[in-house]
Amino acid sequence: MKISFLTLFPEVIEPYIAASIPGRARQKGLADISVHNIRDWTQDKHGRVDDYPFGGGAGMVMTPQPLFDSIDAVRAQMPAGTRVVCPSPGGVPFDNRLARELAALPGLLLVCGHYEGIDQRVIDHRVDIEISIGDYVLTGGELPALIVMDAVLRFIPGVVGNECVHDEESFERGLLEYPQYTRPAVFRGIPVPEVLLSGHHAHIAAWQRRQSLIRTASVRPDLIKGAQLTQAEREEIASARDESTAE
Ligand SMILES: C[S@@+](CC[C@H](N)C(=O)[O-])C[C@H]1O[C@@H](n2cnc3c(N)ncnc32)[C@H](O)[C@@H]1O
Repeated sequence: MKISFLTLFPEVIEPYIAASIPGRARQKGLADISVHNIRDWTQDKHGRVDDYPFGGGAGMVMTPQPLFDSIDAVRAQMPAGTRVVCPSPGGVPFDNRLARELAALPGLLLVCGHYEGIDQRVIDHRVDIEISIGDYVLTGGELPALIVMDAVLRFIPGVVGNECVHDEESFERGLLEYPQYTRPAVFRGIPVPEVLLSGHHAHIAAWQRRQSLIRTASVRPDLIKGAQLTQAEREEIASARDESTAE
């Protein structure tokens, strides 16, 4: 997969993509990742890429010319079927389902906004999808774009070691993941749950499933509605809820 970033701050993106799993994905040739500075395309003689908003209001807006030209130039070097993604608090909510969908594409061009955002004509004529990473406002699109890239990379075969890992992880079965423990079995007098040391796979699986249910019901009850649960599990959650409201 080819992933390109368009940003005014390449120095924010570059260290992250050079390290850890994204770095290894690049080295292994699983992802071809590049970073481009939008400012390189500005035709403004002072190198400006922003201007005051029409209609007044606070802050500056990124002008269309450098964005149209940079998107067209970088897009032309990317495979057919590449989608242009723009992080925005007004975009569709980002989740694992969307990450998986994007991972199936041949290319992603991530366009990072800054200041008060970017001229709407860029969105209307060059951007395929606006994505929000949450209901809060950051100063720029670099972190959201990295988040999208990171979540997408995990769905590219070979990027994370064990392919089965996705089945277990939070959200993949509509539930949050169960708690994880590693050695030592007792740390500062705090033991790991005994069942995990039993070697009894069915008991361990049942414990993990129950922990997922408890955690999801308590932290993200909204997910429980869409999760695939047995009738017994639904009843167990309902009775746990009744007990906690009775206390
Ligand atoms: C200060 S924000 C602009 C906010 C915009 N004026 C608004 O109210 O929607 C600057 C840039 O940060 C990025 N950004 C900020 N918060 C974001 C979020 N929750 N999700 C995705 N991108 C975000 C976008 O790229 C945006 O263009």
